[in-house]
Amino acid sequence: MKKLLSILLAVLMVFALVGCSNEQAPAEEGGEATGDTVKIGVCIYQFDDNFMTLFRNNIQAYFDDLNSKGGTQYEVTIVDGANDAATQTEQVNTFISQGVDALIVNLVQTTSDALAKAIEDSGIPCVFINREIADYQYSAKTCYVGADARDSGTYQGQIIFDQPEHGDLNGDGKVSYIMIMGDPENSDAKNRTEYSIKYLTDNGVEVECLYQETGNWDQAKGQELVASALASNGDAIEVVFCNNDAMAIGAAQAIEAAGRTVGKDIYLVGVDALAECVEMVNAGTMTGTVLNDADGQAAACCDTVLKLLAGEEIANKVNYVPYVMVTAE
Ligand code: BGC
Repeated sequence: MKKLLSILLAVLMVFALVGCSNEQAPAEEGGEATGDTVKIGVCIYQFDDNFMTLFRNNIQAYFDDLNSKGGTQYEVTIVDGANDAATQTEQVNTFISQGVDALIVNLVQTTSDALAKAIEDSGIPCVFINREIADYQYSAKTCYVGADARDSGTYQGQIIFDQPEHGDLNGDGKVSYIMIMGDPENSDAKNRTEYSIKYLTDNGVEVECLYQETGNWDQAKGQELVASALASNGDAIEVVFCNNDAMAIGAAQAIEAAGRTVGKDIYLVGVDALAECVEMVNAGTMTGTVLNDADGQAAACCDTVLKLLAGEEIANKVNYVPYVMVTAE
């Protein structure tokens, strides 16, 4: 009986050993596979942003497409900075300590270059997107892909200038407008605010700002601010400039609720050309918008990541994908 038991024990031990080595097998396979797996960490300033949602979905789709072709596989991890700089710093540090092969970073905070410097020190190639750090010298392994926000502002001004009486609906000799801004630290917000008005004044149009507030790129906030501006300024408002389309959708709701009619007694412009806004422009409930090319920018960003991974030098450190003016015409 004792002998039988020891044989049984020995057999069990052999099974246990085989079991162990079987468990290890996939890990080894995984280990081999990582040679052909490129890890990419993507930090988005905030998932709850219409435009950046398009952008991040395009990044994911780009690498999904490459993966479906076989060959090198790209493991893309996208994280939400929740519009909090400390959260984002932690996320970047985690990616760095995990040793990702490349980073794509949409900064929460562009007024400091500390995080960009930390990324450079790590030696990991990185493409910054959408939010440009002012006057920053990108290193050999870092660069920026976005759009020149001055142009989007200029197009907004041009859309209004192209309206009858250049936007002066009440014929009092000046265009009275309100400005709903994105995050005021953001260069897109600053440039759109400045250049939309600059186009009008450069073309000899007199302007008057009745109200300027920060809507933080957010639809609900845009609606709230425009409703309050319409309540206090009434019919005096001829043009509503919004730094982006999300806030313009909110503005359109407030305009309708106030009994005003876009194209008849008020004009409304945004930026991004979200599908919903292109429909609104065609329906006349928005005067115009400007295409902020999320497809083109995501493609340029991912192409650049591949070049950096291949050790190529990026000649164009700041890559601006052009904006396109969108009106019903
Ligand atoms: C877009 C906004 C977006 C912002 C985020 C801008 O370029 O026009 O819609 O909220 O980027 O940084």
